Amino acid sequence: MTVTPYEDGPLLIRGDFLLRTPDGEIIEAGRDTVALCRCGRSGIKPFCDGSHRVVGFRAGAAPDPTPAGECRLRPATGPRRTGPDG
Ligand code: FES
Repeated sequence: MTVTPYEDGPLLIRGDFLLRTPDGEIIEAGRDTVALCRCGRSGIKPFCDGSHRVVGFRAGAAPDPTPAGECRLRPATGPRRTGPDG
């Protein structure tokens, strides 16, 4: 399985994976590649429905190397999303 964060968009999951709810129930993905929402605005969570484009979601795609060996997503540049929730 691979997980690919897309800049300003979802996490793309490819390969052999299993999605579960916090209660352990299986979420049927129905395919080998899915996009998981990371903007929090999708109407079909946990999957991406493209709403990240509408809300102007900003997030990096690649990790930044950090001195302590931590792995963080590169901060997005540009304006933050605006809307009723922030
Ligand atoms: S990342 Fe696409 S709708 Fe949230």
